[in-house]
Amino acid sequence: MTDQSGTIESHPLRAGEDPTTYPPTAEFREQANINDPSIYWRAAEDPEGYWAEQAQKLSWTKPFTEILDWSNPPFAKWFQDGELNVAANCLDRHVQAGLGDRVAIHFEGEPGDTRSITYAELTHEVKRAANMLTSLGVEPGDRVAIYMPMIPETVIAMLAVARLGAAHSVVFGGFSAESLRARIDDAQAEIVITADGGFRKGRASALKPTVDDALALHGGGSSVQKVLVVERTKNDISMTEGRDLWWHEEITAYDGEHEAKGFPAENPLFILYTSGTTGRPKGILHTSGGYLTQASTTHRDVFDLKPETDVYWCTADVGWITGHSYVVYGPLANGATQVMYEGTPETPDWGRWWSIIQKYGVTIFYTAPTAIRACMKVGRQVPEQYDLSSIRVLGSVGEPINPEAWRWYHEVIGAGTAPIVDTWWQTETGAIMIAALPGLTSLKPGSAQVAQPGIRVNVVNDAGERVERGQGGLLTIQRPWPSMVRNIWGDPERFIETYWEKFGDMYFAGDGARVDDDDGDVWLLGRVDDVMNVSGHRLSTAEIESALVEHNSVAEAAVVGATDETTGQAVVAFCVLKSQQTALTPEDAEAALKAHVAAQIGAIARPRQILIVTELPKTRSGKIMRRLLKDVADGKEVGDTTTLADTRVMSTIQEQIRVP
Ligand code: WTA
Repeated sequence: MTDQSGTIESHPLRAGEDPTTYPPTAEFREQANINDPSIYWRAAEDPEGYWAEQAQKLSWTKPFTEILDWSNPPFAKWFQDGELNVAANCLDRHVQAGLGDRVAIHFEGEPGDTRSITYAELTHEVKRAANMLTSLGVEPGDRVAIYMPMIPETVIAMLAVARLGAAHSVVFGGFSAESLRARIDDAQAEIVITADGGFRKGRASALKPTVDDALALHGGGSSVQKVLVVERTKNDISMTEGRDLWWHEEITAYDGEHEAKGFPAENPLFILYTSGTTGRPKGILHTSGGYLTQASTTHRDVFDLKPETDVYWCTADVGWITGHSYVVYGPLANGATQVMYEGTPETPDWGRWWSIIQKYGVTIFYTAPTAIRACMKVGRQVPEQYDLSSIRVLGSVGEPINPEAWRWYHEVIGAGTAPIVDTWWQTETGAIMIAALPGLTSLKPGSAQVAQPGIRVNVVNDAGERVERGQGGLLTIQRPWPSMVRNIWGDPERFIETYWEKFGDMYFAGDGARVDDDDGDVWLLGRVDDVMNVSGHRLSTAEIESALVEHNSVAEAAVVGATDETTGQAVVAFCVLKSQQTALTPEDAEAALKAHVAAQIGAIARPRQILIVTELPKTRSGKIMRRLLKDVADGKEVGDTTTLADTRVMSTIQEQIRVP
């Protein structure tokens, strides 16, 4: 079924499956937001009615009368005659409800500086920033690029853009100048909001210099008119006269009066680029009313949020969809109090996360399996030094959580009692689609379990027919859902082709899955396309291959996602050098090419290994057989080679490399 990730049936998760299930305790069930199982069938009977009921919990400047328009699939419209202001839903309405003094964000800088910002203060700052952006010319429908560290101003910038009915395009701060520029160009952003730098691993990482490099590329002309720079690290940067402005200097001219206008429910809220199967990232477009409805509903129900008492912490960077939906829009729409941490978990030592949980009394903690495995490696003696007894719900996202990591997370971080919600979703789905509801679901380590109320998923074969329970197949989503991707920015053809062409009106997620015989729980079995999942981040094999062949020493390249104990998958590249380059030692070539990929795309794409070979395995029609290379990278016996044009290639490759 798949070239890149091998057959679904052989996925490693099946081996270590844990037969134990963990039903909710009577105590947890009793207090849970959702503890009546009839929610599933009520929502299944009338999904639109269910979502309309959820949407009513937001505040609309003009109420909607229409729920879903699916007359022109796959272009869905939700609540389209309604109007709302997304930022006002995250801010003003809480202040108006008398909750202005509630802390919205407990910020913890990596060097140890802290700020607690109430809803009233956050609202005030967003209003000022909205006034500042207006005077810089931002209008409804414009795009603003945001290239920032994890600091409160990032949230303020996003909400200020949203408040004006403009769309933000947040670019993860680890991306290179090239990647940033490609995203700026694709969205035609006129303003970039950045910072001098951010603190990571005890150092100031430079952001503004990367913006300068990005804007200098391709001869210098770009759509960008202004660059707003937040001061964070005070590292030495240069400011371009007439283009660059310091945020803290500009903002002083603006007060905190700003009336939020309502915008149509389908007004674009943001574009977020993600890797696809071709070299070019896709600009995933999300709109306002449906997105906010599902982000807030799932945040409330899946994490059992009690905004009056909970302290929530999601460790994701706002540069990813998890940061958009579960750091910014979901929690703030729900009036939650949350922790925001700038740095890495090992700075100054591996106790940092646990000390933050202890300090703020975090009750709901949401992170990724790769981080849990990294902490496991360091050992339970580190978290055991901290008081983590405040924790009552744990979440996982980004890749399947292997049962061993699940049990460690449950016992060591969750005291053996906190439920773990394993949440499956994607940049494209905008919000959680498959996850336990902790007051109802008997948890099963390794399985994401149940489609959310109002969501229907199916596992099908290549022909789109439902496979039998227990069998592997392709995950599809029936019916449109409120927070679904509306389009690929500027490329509706690609939108149709990528997600809808395969199965008509069912959305094709790109993941393999299987449904349990007895209770219908869903297991995710990894990507079935050429998208890798490294530390929970999506990377495209094609994008890294094209970066490699752009290097003047490389003739051909093939990239695979090799199995990696900590990061899930790791990038391994096989490169054939141009004949005049064979004087390069393999070590020099490897170092140069790793650095090249990091410079082209970003450090997250840096290959773990580059293997220099003289030939790549190809079929008679010239297609590279990555499946065989993945076997080599995994140190496994190489699979069926009979379809190779030259069956000796694999033995040559194995002689040429030594996999450590
Ligand atoms: C994978 C991240 C198994 C999956 C929110 C999906 C998961 C891709 C899970 C989306 C999970 C995410 N179990 N696999 N709980 N969560 N994935 O767009 O392959 O960065 O297609 O969104 O991550 O990654 P993205």
